[in-house]
Amino acid sequence: MTINTSVSLSLSERILTVTLNRPKALNALNIEIINQLKRVFNEALDDPNIGGIIITGSGEKAFAAGADIKEIAELDNHSSLIFVEKGQALFSFIENFKKPVIAAVNGYALGGGCELAMACHFRIASASAQFGQPEVNLGLIPGYGGTQRLTKLIGKGRAMELMMTGNTFDAETAKNLGLVNHIEESQEAMMMLARKLMSRILAKAPLAISMVIRCANAADTTLEDGYSVEAEAFAQCCDTEDFKEGTLAFIEKRKPEFIGK
Ligand code: CAA
Repeated sequence: MTINTSVSLSLSERILTVTLNRPKALNALNIEIINQLKRVFNEALDDPNIGGIIITGSGEKAFAAGADIKEIAELDNHSSLIFVEKGQALFSFIENFKKPVIAAVNGYALGGGCELAMACHFRIASASAQFGQPEVNLGLIPGYGGTQRLTKLIGKGRAMELMMTGNTFDAETAKNLGLVNHIEESQEAMMMLARKLMSRILAKAPLAISMVIRCANAADTTLEDGYSVEAEAFAQCCDTEDFKEGTLAFIEKRKPEFIGK
């Protein structure tokens, strides 16, 4: 797997930790990071050594403080469309990734940073985390899917208020809103919890996990009937060796040994 300085990678026990690595710019998502993330996720999809991905930010101050304002300042009507479509395609790829993706949010997750966290399958945070969609402060709106994902995750009225005020909010508020699942006191404890949860997920049948992702995402869409998708996915799971092993192991009161088929 490619190692790059603006996105650093470490792989252990089938967990790939992807660290946004521009701490001096509070890990702002410049085009280089977007391109690197796309490459990392593309390579991880087919890599049998990678079971799941944790995304976090380097340093103690930020997960990511948004799109790189210095880059977006140059955009015009035409180039901004290309810019957001590229980011949206990446975030949608992450949201629909077949392997589990957890955001471990330390410090600021603002604008595109909050949007990246929301594209992950779920989020945990350190006590220092700060969330927000402050684009209105720049005369902008969220462009990497935030208007959609924030609305779906916390409800329209609350999302409207946060996007219209641009207010940032702390980890406790994010948990109360349902944006993050768990808060840990320190960054180290947060990473330990992320790894623990990921290890637990990776012990399950991989196809069943990918079907959970697919079906939960189908609940979001108005284009597909989520129930049919679920029924079809359920039937597909029933056709696997892991399903047979899982049910047999339950009956025999032992731990299943899944093989991913
Ligand atoms: N883009 C580029 N650089 C950024 C950045 C960003 N989004 N956020 C912070 N930085 C840089 C600062 O310019 C500064 O660099 P220099 O030292 O070279 O000046 C460095 O990171 C440290 O930042 P601050 O000195 O501002 O740190 P602070 O602790 O005083 O404030 C902050 C922290 C409140 C997060 C503040 O940096 C801030 O408001 N950042 C911008 C947040 C924002 O508006 N994000 C939305 C971006 S637009 C977007 O994301 C659109 C989209 O949906 C696609």
